[in-house]
Formats: sequence, C-alpha cells, structure tokens
Amino acid sequence: MSENKPGPREIAIRTDEKKQHFDDIYVAEDPVPFKERIIDAFEYVSCSFNKRIFDRLILPWCEEQARMGKSLNYVDLCCCFGNTTMAVVHGMEVDAIRRNWADHESCKTIARPRRLPFRTIGIDISGNALAYGKRAGLFDEVIESDLNAPEPEAKAAVDQALQEADVVVSTAAFVYLELAAIATLCDSFARNEKEGYMLVNFLNPFALDSADATKRLLLEKLEFVGSTATRHRRLSPLEQENYPGEEWALLELWVLRRRD
Ligand SMILES: C[S@@+](CC[C@H](N)C(=O)[O-])C[C@H]1O[C@@H](n2cnc3c(N)ncnc32)[C@H](O)[C@@H]1O
Repeated sequence: MSENKPGPREIAIRTDEKKQHFDDIYVAEDPVPFKERIIDAFEYVSCSFNKRIFDRLILPWCEEQARMGKSLNYVDLCCCFGNTTMAVVHGMEVDAIRRNWADHESCKTIARPRRLPFRTIGIDISGNALAYGKRAGLFDEVIESDLNAPEPEAKAAVDQALQEADVVVSTAAFVYLELAAIATLCDSFARNEKEGYMLVNFLNPFALDSADATKRLLLEKLEFVGSTATRHRRLSPLEQENYPGEEWALLELWVLRRRD
C-alpha cells in the first residue's frame, strides 16, 4: 500500500490525513487494482451490506415502479468503477463482484444483468473509472467532475441528474466531499417533488466531526427512512497507527427520501 504521499498521477482527491490514500487505484485503467488492493487486501465487504439495505428499504419501491411500467433514474455519486452499482442494480454481493473483477479480461463485461429498468448515471472525479463503467455497461451516462469545485458545465449536468433521480447512492464517499458540496448535491436532489431515495454511508473512525455535520445537514433537507451498521474494511497499517487498538473501519448505512 502506498504511503500518504502524492503520486505522479494524483488528481484533486482530498483524503482525511489519518485515512489511507487510494488515489492511484481510483485512476487505474480498470477495476483489477481496486479488487486486488482494496477488496482483497482489506476485506472490503461493504458492497454486500449496501445491497442488503437497498433490498430492504428501496428495492420494493423500485419493483413497484417497474410493475407500473416506469423506468428508474439512478445516480451513483463518487461511483469509482461502479462496485456499488454492481451491488444494487445488478444484485451482486462482494464475492460475485470479486469474481467478476478477477482479471483484466473478466472485468470487461458485467456477469449479471440489471435487476430492473434502471437508467444509470455515474459521477466521479476519475475519468478512467467512468470510462470503464461506461465500457462495461454499468453506466448509460457519466459525468466527470470534481464535486468540491465543479466546472459550470459539469455542475449543471450533476444538478440535473440529481434533480431527476429516483435513486441516488453515495457510498464511502462523503468523507471526500466538503460540507458545502454535499449541501449543493442534496439541494439538487430535494428540489424535485416526486418520491425518491438516497442511500449514503458514514465511515468510522475517520473525520467524525465532519460526518456529524453531514448527518445534521441531510436531516434538515431529507426525511430519514432507516439505517444499519456493519464492517466496512480492515484498517491499513498506517490507519492502525493513527487509531491505536482499532482493526476495522466501520460503516453506517442510511436511507433517506425526499420530503412529501
Ligand atoms: C472510496 S471510493 C468509493 C467507491 C464506491 N462508491 C464504494 O463505496 O466503494 C471514493 C470515490 O470518490 C471519488 N472522489 C474523491 N474525491 C472526489 C471529488 N472531489 N469529486 C468527485 N469524486 C471524488 C474517487 O475518485 C473515488 O472513486
């Protein structure tokens, strides 16, 4: 694992100083380094739990919409290579994702079809991750943007995608975003009056004050639906030094919806 030093291909990803940098993995050509150096190396299990809370609190509503002949606008915010989309849209737990991303050949296509008629948009700062997601058929559209400092065109596209979204997922991601950026994203989502759901994650033990501020902000703008807590991944040696006595990063998963 790399130390927390800027690498030659580093982009504008702001990582909490006590948290491991994974920037070079996010900008790789395909998700094999993500699978080997994060999912395998750190027992990154959170995709399974994102799938399970989605299935419990959001999927029944999506199925009802599909039964009525509606397609669903779906946005994965800070999607990286699309592992959460594989979990919630394609119904894959982490072992299935691991097998799919085992090598440069197998990752080219997604092993399972979409569960429902989702129209998918991936948003991230990493152009390479988005290009993979589009190539592999995970995302119908992609928007490349630094969400902390978006260019006007990308800002407008993100605003529209969130406003029109039926489902937004943003997993293991708020830790990279400034509070003002999260507020803007939530405002875009909340502007629409139709029913719509958001699945978000909070990480422990990283940047807890900022996670608390984010929770307060979300509760101001959206309605709380339900939550669960679980393991996220193992801490790196660097993180274990920064948080003595801890071995795991933990994950809180929240589902929110637009207010009536
Ligand atoms: C930990 S990964 C999350 C991947 C996936 N959502 C998951 O839960 O595994 C964080 C993602 O956030 C993206 N990211 C970090 N800073 C960003 C920013 N300022 N704007 C947009 N995306 C950003 C990174 O490129 C990376 O793909």
